[in-house]
Parts: sequence; structure tokens; C-alpha cells
Amino acid sequence: MAAASSRVPEVALRSGNARPMPAIGMGTASFPLVHESTKAAVLAAIEAGYRHFDTAYLYGTEKPLGDAVAEAVRRGLLRSRADVFVTSKLWCTQNHPDLVLPSLRQTLENLQMEYVDLYLIHWPVSLKPGPAAFPNRKEDAVPLDVEGVWRAMEECQRLGLAKAIGVSNFTTRHLDRLLAAAAVPPAVNQVELNPVWQQRTLRAYCAEKGIHIAAFSALGGQNWDGQPNAVLESPVLAEIAAARGKTVAQVALRWIYEQGVTPIAKTYNKERLKQNLDIFDWELTEEDRLKIAQIPQKKVVKHTDLFAPEGKFTSVDPADLNITEE
Ligand SMILES: NC(=O)c1ccc[n+]([C@@H]2O[C@H](COP(=O)([O-])OP(=O)(O)OC[C@H]3O[C@@H](n4cnc5c(N)ncnc54)[C@H](OP(=O)(O)O)[C@@H]3O)[C@@H](O)[C@H]2O)c1
Repeated sequence: MAAASSRVPEVALRSGNARPMPAIGMGTASFPLVHESTKAAVLAAIEAGYRHFDTAYLYGTEKPLGDAVAEAVRRGLLRSRADVFVTSKLWCTQNHPDLVLPSLRQTLENLQMEYVDLYLIHWPVSLKPGPAAFPNRKEDAVPLDVEGVWRAMEECQRLGLAKAIGVSNFTTRHLDRLLAAAAVPPAVNQVELNPVWQQRTLRAYCAEKGIHIAAFSALGGQNWDGQPNAVLESPVLAEIAAARGKTVAQVALRWIYEQGVTPIAKTYNKERLKQNLDIFDWELTEEDRLKIAQIPQKKVVKHTDLFAPEGKFTSVDPADLNITEE
């Protein structure tokens, strides 16, 4: 197994005490959730050489991910839990200072782990405390005490329950406010990023501040709304893939990696898992990069996706929740 995983480069995070992050992660957001399929897919990924896994309280995949890691250790596929980098996320209903630590403790119980490598604020949105649900009522959105929540995140790192802490879906505006209050800067911002949503403004900002970017929906997302997948169906990427003898998914993941960003890609299919890992021993050409730079931009995930269409925001300005930034 060491041979397979040694092909994957690693990134040292600039904040916190986490081990270096492997340069591609496996996503585990899967709806509908089937426990056994997530566990089997994570085991297949570990066998293929993945050592970086992304989950969240919301996804319901913390438990099967933890089961798979425990089984991989029992089977000798991993020496110990320390061989994997695990990220989980604080859901919006727990985005309150006094709920952060109990939420992380619940996440660790689900994962059957003593620590997560990285714990993220899932969204710059706070919802009234309660069970995680989808979609949410606009009336349940409340102002986010980002300073208070971040102090509680810092406490999680201080206690060693999270080796590093970070955020997700934060724009430069959200980061400005957070950085003004942070004693520990966020190690990572996990955002939608791929050749069709390149996030140039955010990338420049995070490079300057030493915040590493992880890319979710690296392959265009799972198309919950039935829209065509703008990454996997991109004619520009298809042309480049044909010329390089690679797949469109590999071109997209390679492009993300070349931007200094860590792609998080979801597939539970063994062959596609292997294919997505095979991006580290070849390069795009300058011409490929120029063509990709010209792809028209389109964001899929919006803050409005969190909420049912009816109803009204009564205690927040919806502009504060907006995560779309050109
Ligand atoms: N922080 C956040 O707010 C947030 C939001 C969304 C996602 N995420 C995280 O990021 C992860 C990845 O994002 P995502 O789940 O939106 O989707 P994604 O990784 O962009 O897209 C995956 C889609 O591409 C297909 N696929 C994967 N590899 C392929 C290949 N080699 N060739 C062709 N098709 C391929 C998959 O289908 P098959 O499964 O059928 O292969 C899947 O439907 C999530 O699982 C989650 O962990 C985080």
C-alpha cells in the first residue's frame, strides 16, 4: 500500500499541527446515503492509495468512513489511523460558539477517532440550533457570531481534537472579518472550484494570506438539480483530454492541482477512483492552460440552495450569506 500512496504529493498547511495534506481527497457526500456503499468505497479508495477523506456532520458519512478506516487498520491496509488525513465540518445549526465543541465531540464519536486532521466551519451561515435538515427555513437564519465561533474552533485545536481548523464556502469578505479576529488563522478554505468556476479573486487573496484552498465539486458536482455537468461535459476539456490521452476528469483534476489547490472528488466507482488518482506524473501544456483560462464561468452551489424557496429572511441580510464572488 505504501507504494500506491507514495505517488500522491502532500501539502504542508501553514496553520495548525496537522500532518501534510495529501494532494487529492475523496469526497463522501452521497445522497441517498447507503452506509455499506460508503464503507466499501472508502476501503476501495484506501486500497487504491487514497489517504485523504472529506466528510461532514451533514453528510451522515462520518460513521461509515470511520468504520472503513478501522477495518483498513484491522486488515493491515493502514498501519494506524494516523496514516489518513480526515476532514469534517461543523453544520450551520451548530454554528454557535457554545455548540462547536459538543459538535466536534459528536463527529469524533461518529468517526471513532480521537482527532480530526481538519475541522471546518461548513458555511458562513448560522441557523437556529436544531437537527440538521435540508432545505432550511429562511426565518431560521440568524446572524453568525463568526468571532465567537472561531474562538471555539481555536479551542478545539488547542485541545488537540482538531489538528488544524479552517472554513468552507467563505468569500474574501467573510475571510476579512474572520482574520481580523483570529488568533489562529484558518489553515484551509474549502470552496467550489474547478475549470468552470476558477475563483481567481479568492485564490489570489488566499495565496497572500497563507490559506490553502481545497476544491469541492472538483468535477462539476453531483447535479442534484438535474442540470448538465459543465465540467464533465465541457468541449474544451474534452478536446484537451483527447490530445493528452487522458479523461476529462483527469484534465480537470490536474488543472486544479497545478493551481496549487487540493481537489476533493467524489466517486464510489473503483475504476474512477483509480483514474482520479492518476494525475501526478504528467502535465498540461501552456496552450491547454490558456484554453482553460477562457472557459466561461458558472457557479453551481449558491447560498439559496440551503433554503426552501418560500419564506423570508427575518433576522439576517441575505447579502451576508452570499458566497458567489467573481
Ligand atoms: N464544503 C462544501 O460545502 C461542499 C459542497 C459540495 C461537496 N463537498 C465535498 O466535495 C466532494 C466532491 O464534490 P461533489 O460530491 O459535489 O462532486 P464532484 O466530485 O465534483 O463530482 C462527482 C461527480 O462526478 C462523477 N465522477 C467522479 N469521477 C469521475 C470520473 N473519473 N469520470 C467521470 N465521472 C466521474 C461522479 O459520479 P460517480 O460517483 O458515478 O462516479 C459524481 O457524480 C463531496 O463529496 C464532498 O465531500 C463539499
